[in-house]
Amino acid sequence: MPSDRASAQTPAGEPESLSESGLPIRPVYRPADLDGWDPRVQLGEPGGYPYTRGVYPTMYTGRPWTMRQYAGFGTAAESNKRYQQLIAAGSTGLSVAFDLPTQMGYDSDEPIAHGEVGKVGVAIDSIEDMRTLFGGIPLDKVSTSMTINAPAAILLLLYQLVGEEQGVAPAALTGTIQNDILKEYIARGTYIYPPAPSLRLVSDVFAYCNREIPRWNTISISGYHMAEAGATPAQEIAFTLADAVAYVRAAVESGLDVDKFAPRLSFFFVARTTLLEEVAKFRAARRIWSRVMREEFGAKDPKSQMLRFHTQTAGVQLTAQQPEVNMVRVALQALGAVLGGTQSLHTNSFDEAIALPTEKAARLALRTQQVIAYETDVTKTVDPFAGSYVVEKLTDDLEAEIGTLMRRVEELGGAVAAIEHGFQKAEIERSAYRFAQEIDGGRRVVVGVNRFALDSEEPYEPLQVDPTIELQQADRLAKLRADRSQHDVDRALDEVKRAASSTDNVLYPMREALRMRATVGEVSHALRNVWGTYVPRDAF
Ligand code: 3HC
Repeated sequence: MPSDRASAQTPAGEPESLSESGLPIRPVYRPADLDGWDPRVQLGEPGGYPYTRGVYPTMYTGRPWTMRQYAGFGTAAESNKRYQQLIAAGSTGLSVAFDLPTQMGYDSDEPIAHGEVGKVGVAIDSIEDMRTLFGGIPLDKVSTSMTINAPAAILLLLYQLVGEEQGVAPAALTGTIQNDILKEYIARGTYIYPPAPSLRLVSDVFAYCNREIPRWNTISISGYHMAEAGATPAQEIAFTLADAVAYVRAAVESGLDVDKFAPRLSFFFVARTTLLEEVAKFRAARRIWSRVMREEFGAKDPKSQMLRFHTQTAGVQLTAQQPEVNMVRVALQALGAVLGGTQSLHTNSFDEAIALPTEKAARLALRTQQVIAYETDVTKTVDPFAGSYVVEKLTDDLEAEIGTLMRRVEELGGAVAAIEHGFQKAEIERSAYRFAQEIDGGRRVVVGVNRFALDSEEPYEPLQVDPTIELQQADRLAKLRADRSQHDVDRALDEVKRAASSTDNVLYPMREALRMRATVGEVSHALRNVWGTYVPRDAF
């Protein structure tokens, strides 16, 4: 939602406006605006360093991006039904939303889980729920993203165990775990352990997947949630890439060779309605990351230098007022992600500002992607905006602004130290406050909200989640605990604690405990028992 904040004048005396990142946008661009700009240095070839034009030489001319709709609610059986519907409707990748107890490493029958079981995502307590979640879905035929962070290793291991039961070798599994704990401290909040053991666990996942599940994307370093909390495009990219630098440093310091794990790093960004700046943002991000990986970390493998990312259209820009207008916003945001070269895309449903999406709204969101992929001509050529005065100028200006912010994080001692100072959180809150003031003051238009509003909204029937889910999950857990060998589970959990207290890779004993039907909560508690939990200091 561009603000019409006027700023300085152009050399020709024309009034400039400002982008979301506070960069000048000229009413008219001319060749002089790209004086000194060298496409051979700034662009390179598509699929070639510095990847400004995209990570693959052919991009969508060979195949479109992965249409990967984020979904999950209620029990594993209900979510499995939604995945089957999405696959039938043409989704080409799965994306699992977990409920908060699962995301926080608690079982559905723990008091702290009361009222949240199956609410914002699917409840997964054990291998039995995971088996139900992917019932009838061959895991060697789909790639699955799982939005899980502190317990990411647990859900990955449950996925591997279910694959094993289906006869799918770990090397054939493809997908992604979000596993981006640093942004949880900054903007999303589903952290458990303090930063040091959390980073150790991330590095253990890198090492484990390099050996056991080599095609798995081990982390989805996310700017989306920071953007949803108010970050500008420049802050979104800068703080995400600063987090990425921290993960790479931690992994290298743990003894891993950068080219052994970096090809399986991935990213996750938002797509706002301000399409021009968003296209420039994605192009700048790829260029910066490839240079950081080559120059700072000495990465030799081209795949280590490629910033591959997933995009979700901006949830925070959806309105509850006149919700159908959101279909237009999502279409524009999705177009920006595609013109910016995303590898995977989730399009929000128009009713998500009201409740979890209905099946029809979720299908319409997917159809939006299919119209862009199959009815427009934007997939017929790579990086269509290349050479555009405004997009190339914004790409350069964003690269400079992002670099300045990344240096500020470095001056504070890197992403983890900056988080502990509360720097990123404070910067994002300042941006969020400015955006809110602009909306309240009418300087930032939100159609249907502060302009073109209706006197009375038409009624809308949201999706209802079954209120008895919590009891159903508790029953399933009671049966599971009655059926398993508690002695074997206890011994396996003791082994998890032993490994967590040593430098051994904790994923191996965690996998064996889960195989014996230890629950998500029990394994998480075993790690809490050794590593403790993170308590944020007051921000500055
Ligand atoms: N030329 C050559 N090869 C190509 C190609 C092309 N044009 N297009 C694709 N390919 C190949 C790739 O090389 C890859 O092969 P590989 O697996 O052997 O490397 C394969 O085809 C798949 O292509 P991609 O890897 O590009 O696409 P994927 O969809 O498999 O992966 C990703 C994309 C970004 C790398 C991956 O990490 C991913 O899927 N991320 C999704 C993350 C996600 O969905 N997150 C949801 C978060 S929801 C949330 O947090 C919000 C909530 O909190 C509100």
